Amino acid sequence: MIHCEKGLFTLHTKHTTYQMKADPHGVLLHTYYGPRVENCDLSYRIRYVDRGFSPVPEEAGEDRTFSLDVLPQEYSAAGMGDFRLPSLDLELPDGSRSADLRFKSFRVEPGKYALEGLPAFRGEEDETLVVVLEDAAAKVEVELYYGVLEDCDIITRAVRLHNRGGQAVKIRQAASLCLDFQRGDLDLITFDGRHVQERSPSRGPLLPGVRSADSVRGGSSHQHNPFVILCDHDAGEDHGLCYGAMLLYSGNFQAAAERSQFESIRLTLGIHPWHFCWTLAPGECFTTPEAALCCSKQGFSVLSHRLHRAIRERLLRDPWTGQSRPILINNWEATMFDFDAERLVNIAESAASLGMELFVMDDGWFGRRNSDLAGLGDWTVNEEKLPGGLDALVPRIQALGMKFGLWIEPEMVNEDSELYRAHPDWVLQAPGRMVRSRQQLALDFSRKEVRDHIYSALKAVLSSAEISYVKWDVNRSLAAVWSAALSPDRQGEVYHRYVLGLYDMLERMRRDFPHMLIEGCCGGGGRFDAGMLYYTPQIWCSDNTDAMDRLRIQYGTSFCYPVCTMGAHVSAVPNAQTGRSVSMETRGVAAMHGTFGYEMDPAQVTPEEREVILRQTAFFKEHQALLHQGDYYRLSDPFQNNPDTAWEQVSPDRREALVSVVSGPIQGGPPCRNLRLKGLDPELRYQVNGQGSYPGSALMEAGWPLPLPWGDYQSWQFYLTAL
Ligand code: GLA
Repeated sequence: MIHCEKGLFTLHTKHTTYQMKADPHGVLLHTYYGPRVENCDLSYRIRYVDRGFSPVPEEAGEDRTFSLDVLPQEYSAAGMGDFRLPSLDLELPDGSRSADLRFKSFRVEPGKYALEGLPAFRGEEDETLVVVLEDAAAKVEVELYYGVLEDCDIITRAVRLHNRGGQAVKIRQAASLCLDFQRGDLDLITFDGRHVQERSPSRGPLLPGVRSADSVRGGSSHQHNPFVILCDHDAGEDHGLCYGAMLLYSGNFQAAAERSQFESIRLTLGIHPWHFCWTLAPGECFTTPEAALCCSKQGFSVLSHRLHRAIRERLLRDPWTGQSRPILINNWEATMFDFDAERLVNIAESAASLGMELFVMDDGWFGRRNSDLAGLGDWTVNEEKLPGGLDALVPRIQALGMKFGLWIEPEMVNEDSELYRAHPDWVLQAPGRMVRSRQQLALDFSRKEVRDHIYSALKAVLSSAEISYVKWDVNRSLAAVWSAALSPDRQGEVYHRYVLGLYDMLERMRRDFPHMLIEGCCGGGGRFDAGMLYYTPQIWCSDNTDAMDRLRIQYGTSFCYPVCTMGAHVSAVPNAQTGRSVSMETRGVAAMHGTFGYEMDPAQVTPEEREVILRQTAFFKEHQALLHQGDYYRLSDPFQNNPDTAWEQVSPDRREALVSVVSGPIQGGPPCRNLRLKGLDPELRYQVNGQGSYPGSALMEAGWPLPLPWGDYQSWQFYLTAL
């Protein structure tokens, strides 16, 4: 719901309120974001104080209490006396660096806005507020877009900049979101890590100065995620005020939080300003990526429920919505590059006999791709490995009752490839420099002719057989970036144009193959962000398939992203990334915290493990809706010194729940522990694994006794049904 009254703009979702106000000087002040409050002008909270060294704009005259340096801004701009984090940094034709934004007009539009060429939440029933600010001297107009997803408790934001003047201006920075808090006592949680260890939560109080999580690697990165939480110091899973902010973007980003001299906090989120400079010619418009905000006063569980629901229902465009997800078998960890058609069919046969439903042929099927030294860029089937091409292979897989899927890495090229030999100038590489990673170079996806070439090759392959699924991978960060198609003064556009090019390719693929599911991947979870999820409804969570490490990676990922988006597979032991051995049972329980599949040669397992796999695939098929659509609760934090990692999914009607528990390394004389469940109906009675009758209140308040572990890394699943 949107209320606009005399320069006061109030946005209500079901449980939250967001407000801004144009003050008498036309400065758009941020007055409030938080739990829902009755309609009122919340600017009464803003204090005007004479602060030494804080500049005063001309029109305030002698009123020294009016300074942009201290007032809460809705969209901060550099250069006019607000020295905190800027949202907008403009370089004007005369070389000066300032933007003076004043309220001009507003409009309310039915339906949630869309952004051409960029990912965005949907909301046909929702509303959009556009507040137009103007820098009259620079003749730049800034449209602030707000999508109010009322039911989902999400406020989305995006910014459009228009050059209404006669000369080009340069955008040095344009954040998607700026959020000022009139308090200084908040914690910041970021989700950080590295390859094979992504998205570990890292939490701390904001201290004076700036703390940021960002990426300048070209993609959103393994190292930091474009999602952060700000919260009360004592906020936890079930209590406390918390705010989540995500950027729907898959390239360089910056999430920065600053605690100012007067103990206010500003959060900005958007494209990273490093190596960004966009020339906006007269008449042109620049659109930032979308950011989305969510708030809960009942802690992180509710925050996650709201985010998960919004992502599932309003962001994902899942071609398989309403259908159950096939259980996947991927050959990568089993074969690496060393396979032929017979080996693949052999894997598929044993997989099919164990209840698996989708066979994915990973890297190595094209060009001269027999190792990671060659072949990227040559998207034609390697007929030495696969005689007769996909035409011959796919029907053999389908004859087993399985769907077929394919791995691709369209953004990359090896120097040892036909493509590179023909077009060495198609790579994103500064003249005289060469930075390889995994022995590969990035193609210049900012260029349409490069994209067209790759796309038509891929389209031919994808049309040559019935392909149900594609794993879109990318396996390096960008470095020494330069585009032959851009003039020197436009090189600051290249990273963003690359991302726009990527989105264009993904959109084409979605359009031409509407029934094909695309899974995102970037050396595992190096591009796990809401931007990619708009095109690829699931993303390979990590190259680390060790069940115990996965529990932590999936735990961190779950704060923002729902279980149905996390690619998770059972792989062979000892694990290829850690050398750890964990039982088949526990590997299965961990992988059910995701899309679920296997990445191994199922013909190599013991007869006992076969039995376990048969039970797992049957169990997953039976409970998939609960696992993927249920409300998700983190019952313990695997980063704490907890002996167990436990989580729970509860059906929307609370009549069904699944509790999963994995124990840590065994210790002698283990204590007897009762696990307190969450989200049940206190009034209902539940059976646990088909036995007994326990009140929901008892299971939640008094808990459920966990079996005593015997050995390391045991696992249990408790399936609850209401009587
Ligand atoms: C990346 C992916 C893996 C696999 C390999 C293939 O590392 O994350 O899952 O597809 O590439 O080269």
